[in-house]
Amino acid sequence: MEQMEKRTDYCGNITAEYIGKNVNLYGWVQRVRNLGNLLFIDLRDREGLVQVVVNHDSGEKLMSIASSLGNEYVIQVKGNVVKRSDVNPEMKTGEVEVDATEIVVLNAAQNPPFEIKDNIEVSEQTRLKYRYLDLRRPSLQKAIILRSKILRATHEYFDEQGFINIETPIMGKSSPEGARDYLVPSRIYPGSFYALPQSPQLFKQLLMGAGFDKYYQLARCFRDEDLRGDRQPEFTQIDMETSFTDEQQVQDYTEGLLKKIMKDVMEIDLPTPIPRISWDDAMNKYGTDKPDTRYEMLIHDLSSIFKDSAFKVFSGAIANGGFVKGIAVKDGAAEYSRKKIEKKQEYIKRYHAKGLAWVKYEDDEFSGPIARFLTDENKTALKQEFKLGGGELVVFVADKWKVCCDSLDHLRREFAAETGIIPKHVFDFVWVVDWPLFEYDEGFGRWIAAHHPFTMPDDEGIKLLDTDPHKAHARSYDIVMNGDEMGGGSIRIHKRSIQEKMFKALGFTKKRAYEQFGYLLDALDMGFPPHAGLAIGLDRFAMMLAEKDNIRDVLAFPKNASASEPMMHAPAPVSDQQLADLGILVEDQYHESVKKANERLEAEAQEDAAKNATWDE
Ligand code: AMO
Ligand code: AMP
Repeated sequence: MEQMEKRTDYCGNITAEYIGKNVNLYGWVQRVRNLGNLLFIDLRDREGLVQVVVNHDSGEKLMSIASSLGNEYVIQVKGNVVKRSDVNPEMKTGEVEVDATEIVVLNAAQNPPFEIKDNIEVSEQTRLKYRYLDLRRPSLQKAIILRSKILRATHEYFDEQGFINIETPIMGKSSPEGARDYLVPSRIYPGSFYALPQSPQLFKQLLMGAGFDKYYQLARCFRDEDLRGDRQPEFTQIDMETSFTDEQQVQDYTEGLLKKIMKDVMEIDLPTPIPRISWDDAMNKYGTDKPDTRYEMLIHDLSSIFKDSAFKVFSGAIANGGFVKGIAVKDGAAEYSRKKIEKKQEYIKRYHAKGLAWVKYEDDEFSGPIARFLTDENKTALKQEFKLGGGELVVFVADKWKVCCDSLDHLRREFAAETGIIPKHVFDFVWVVDWPLFEYDEGFGRWIAAHHPFTMPDDEGIKLLDTDPHKAHARSYDIVMNGDEMGGGSIRIHKRSIQEKMFKALGFTKKRAYEQFGYLLDALDMGFPPHAGLAIGLDRFAMMLAEKDNIRDVLAFPKNASASEPMMHAPAPVSDQQLADLGILVEDQYHESVKKANERLEAEAQEDAAKNATWDE
């Protein structure tokens, strides 16, 4: 049996303090440079690279082993650490090299399908198919290690604060968080399904009913929803719930946790308390409930300025109950040509804007297609409103409130990125509070809970539940960072009567409410404490801290943009026997899709097929 001698340290840790010492290292060959009588090996492990040098004086045998090495070979190197004549200041280990006395090849490697380094051009599909190689790249190693540090800080924090770590079932019953469920068919009860949790929401509330008082969990959640850069079908929440607490106390716990994570993982002192903004203010100033507070360029309501405007697009929109809103882009006058602005107009049509009006302000003059409609009063008002100093581009959207918000939010983000005003390496948190209890979902064509149906309305809202529920406000709060939603939570309903009214306002019949949530409604009547909580999306948070653009980069084995996993080939059809065991009859119309799935898997597995063939033949 191969005995593995203990390693002295990681390759990436071999710095000047090791000079004059013998070391035993393990790692992967990043690259070999053979200069004839001298050979350099860059040896890599999770902590970084170290240079190994082999020269002819070390003997024929060592030189011949070293010459045979290929990229990604796994080797053991013994040698003396010496000072390097040409120091490489770019490398942590750049002051030293390891003068090899022995090299053992532990495993050879085929030439990898892509080079193991950062900033390489390689398709997502290939990266995920060879994820174990992809993960060897330094930036991914760093991101996964950063994730691990967040996990550790989280466990430490909640432990210090007296929280109890409780695991809740993965196989459960659907708890509505707004997405589609992933279902697991039951063999014992054919035709019945477990639902994978979209979040442990109801379990954690029931744990409060059970008297655990402070709960936390690093909870796996599953949501079958459209994927985006910051969403995965399977993700982890830092989930917590507390009894006898209010907004302030939950926010204090959250801030304590964030402070510790920022300190332990990023070495950043997060100032607390984190600022709060009301939902109304966030929508009006930033156009979104997840405002990016790293920069200004706020949205201004210009309706009072333009209500009598000769420009009918403006005055007409206002007369119809709409708004004229705008933003001023500093230095935008020179930066944005008519053509570029027209592109922006096309862009915001996605958000249902009908057009984009604009003026430039330079040398105390307004120019642009609608400048002729501006009265002197309008000009003075605009200058005052935006504190114009010269060189600005001012853009306007005249429409319904929501359309103004959506389109200007997206424009604001684009203008900010393009004009370079977003500060780098800044993590700006904000609480968004005082949410509406319901929102109208255009897709469903009905009112849905803005947070979830277990969220407590404020005092006024409790009264409104009987008369005008959709005007009610919720006792909920979101934590937002750099324009992305990191987490959210609320005070929960702990009284049966209020929970019943809530279901009613959501369009449930009493029968359906009790069929689906009877256990909760009953529990609320058996001594249920007031309680509140919150969940943070761990992957999203890790992605932001690692400054990655995609959530996949902080997950070891993520799904691709079409929710499949090209290495193990999941999802995959199962055998007829498995289907029969589960009592699942795949209808004809689905046979076609199973056939397609098989074709996809075959295509993905083609390269592997040759390997398999040689064994049998
Ligand atoms: P919510 O649905 O807002 O709240 O989810 C909390 C946080 O989870 C993250 N998140 C996701 N991350 C990655 N991929 C996804 N598909 C995904 N969906 C959500 C987000 C989000 O802010 N039970 C409530 C919390 C509570 O009230 O305590 C809940 O799940 O960062
Ligand atoms: P029109 O009168 O339609 O030619 O539009 C004149 C200018 O107003 C063009 O630049 C349009 O893009 C812009 N515009 C049209 N509709 C709107 C709107 N609802 N909000 C803002 N600008 C608009």
